[in-house]
Amino acid sequence: MITERGRYLILQGKNVSYILRIHEEGYLLHYYYGKKLRENDYTYVPVEIRSFYTFAPDRVFLEGEKQEYPAFGYNDLKEGAVQVLENGRDTILSLKYKAHEIIDGKPAFEGLPSSKANGENCQTLVVTLSDEAYGIEIRLSYTVFDDSDVIARSARIINAGNGPVCLTKAFSCSLDIAGKRARETDMITLRGAWAKERNIERHPLFQGISEIGSRTGESSHYLNPFVALCDRTATNASGEALGLLLVYSGNHRFQINVDAYDNIRAMCGIHDGGFRWDLAPGEAFQTPECLLCFSAEGLDGMSREYHDFMRAHILPQRFRTAPRPVLVNSWESLYFDFDEEKILNIVRHAKEAGIELFVLDDGWFGHRKNDSTSLGDWYANPEKLPSGVEGIADKINALGLKFGIWVEPEMANPVSELLEKHPDYPIACRKHPPVLGRNQQVLDLTKREVVEFAKSFLDKLLSCGKISYIKWDMNRSMAEITEPAFVHRYYLGLYEVLGYITEKYPDVLFEGCSGGGGRFDAGMLCYHPLIWTSDVSDAIERLKIQEGTALCYPLSAMGSHVTACPNHQVGRVTPFSTRANVASFGTFGYELNVAELSAEDKSEIKNQIARYREIEPLVREGDFSVLVSAFSGGTFTAWQLTSKDKKRAVVLCVRTLASANAGRDFVRLRGLKEDSMYARKGTKEIYSGGELMYRGFLPGLPGTDFASVLSEFIEID
Ligand code: GLA
Repeated sequence: MITERGRYLILQGKNVSYILRIHEEGYLLHYYYGKKLRENDYTYVPVEIRSFYTFAPDRVFLEGEKQEYPAFGYNDLKEGAVQVLENGRDTILSLKYKAHEIIDGKPAFEGLPSSKANGENCQTLVVTLSDEAYGIEIRLSYTVFDDSDVIARSARIINAGNGPVCLTKAFSCSLDIAGKRARETDMITLRGAWAKERNIERHPLFQGISEIGSRTGESSHYLNPFVALCDRTATNASGEALGLLLVYSGNHRFQINVDAYDNIRAMCGIHDGGFRWDLAPGEAFQTPECLLCFSAEGLDGMSREYHDFMRAHILPQRFRTAPRPVLVNSWESLYFDFDEEKILNIVRHAKEAGIELFVLDDGWFGHRKNDSTSLGDWYANPEKLPSGVEGIADKINALGLKFGIWVEPEMANPVSELLEKHPDYPIACRKHPPVLGRNQQVLDLTKREVVEFAKSFLDKLLSCGKISYIKWDMNRSMAEITEPAFVHRYYLGLYEVLGYITEKYPDVLFEGCSGGGGRFDAGMLCYHPLIWTSDVSDAIERLKIQEGTALCYPLSAMGSHVTACPNHQVGRVTPFSTRANVASFGTFGYELNVAELSAEDKSEIKNQIARYREIEPLVREGDFSVLVSAFSGGTFTAWQLTSKDKKRAVVLCVRTLASANAGRDFVRLRGLKEDSMYARKGTKEIYSGGELMYRGFLPGLPGTDFASVLSEFIEID
């Protein structure tokens, strides 16, 4: 709901209010974003914003005020959200309110992925700011959803003047936070590297700018496009938390600016390092969308809001409630070394064990024997797959499994027929030898012919109608970027290909991947309802990665597989049950040679799949809580999934490392009905919801390294 009260524009979400204020002298100010407020007319608020700084032209000094979309250099000397060049020189923008409109629903977004209304009630406020001296107009857009505490913001910058201008910074959102002091606030980021993605890092804010970003050409393994600001005292269970998250997969930057008076300005958008975007008169630039989320119920409250929002408004809707097939992926079992017989052997055993889909990973195309050749040559390798993709798909289908296949559409090896024929397809700076990453080059998706090539080979592959699943990989960062806005243009090309192919083949399930989790972001989730979370598949390593990812992304979006022991990345030996338990808090599958398992393990797979099928509705639609964090440094981690009706809860406890004489592991649940009675499945234990939440229960976790226990509580009448 959006209402107007005098000079105030009031957005009301499920539990949040967001209030803007139009100042008498035309500036658009921020009044409040946080826990829902009863509406008021705010006539008592002082209207003057005067300052002792005499250089302020109309004596309005904005630095002490909260603004909606600040520009640097006129009457505010803090970092701004937008910067424009005219004739090669920086303009000094003074943006003033021009108009606003309230629209029912959410207007379509051009060229970029964004949240969708999807039938839920939402309204959009569009406020136009303008600097008439420079002919710049900025349309700020805010969508508020009745069912959510997430507010979707973006900006559209228009050259309304007569001459060309150039954008050098165009952030999606700026938030001058009301009611919070920096010295009482922590900043949380999701940091990492390959095989260590999205670990939670938390630190106090300080005067100056705390910032994160990516200039690798993807949202990156290093710093995910997400920042949370929370009370210093906030925990998973309590306190206020506010998130900013970009629906974008390219270079990004988040700046948290703390001024001398302890005020916080949080901003984010496309990374402006080297960014230049020319706008001829009449042209506009659309920023990616930023999802703001506020919760007064701790970090878990914020996570729940983001999960619900992404399931309802970001993930492709046809997969919103559809159960995912349990798959077996060939990578960690066969790597590049396979032929039809090896594949079919796995498929036969997989069928017996109850697995539903086989995904043929890297190595099936061109003359690929290792990672040095053939990316770009998307026809079946004649030695490995003599009957072609259709042939192997038919054989797998005949054995009762669905078929999925790996592709890396954005890449080519220099040793490939593609690049022999089209040496101009990859990104290259031309004056130096090409920079290779994993022996491959990035194809230049800013070029029309490359976009068409990607569309047409994918189309050809999928048109046989026998492929149910695509794993879309992207295995290197970008280098040799000569044109500053190149990465953004690249993503416009990529999103075009993704939009085209996912719309044309709506029933195909797409899994995203980028050397594991190097592009795990809400932009990709608009096309790929799940993403391979990380190349490290060890259950204990995955605890931090999955918990960090779940801070803002839903569990169903996380590809998580049971793999062999000793683990291929870290050599750790963990119980089969723990590997399955951790993988079931995501989209579940296997990535090991099922044919080589003992009869006992094969029949255990059946039990694991059956258990996963019971938990899966909670993975797709339930509430996730962190009871004992993987980052707490304790001897175990505990997570909970609860059904929305609070009738079922599943608790996973994993011993991270044994410790002698460690004491008893009480675990307290959250979010149950206090006065209801709950039975712990498979035991005679019966607890009240209150007892489980305030006293806790003893999961019976063995004291040995890497043991785990999955407990289920069901409400009884
Ligand atoms: C990446 C992926 C792996 C696998 C390999 C294949 O590293 O993350 O899952 O697909 O590529 O080359």
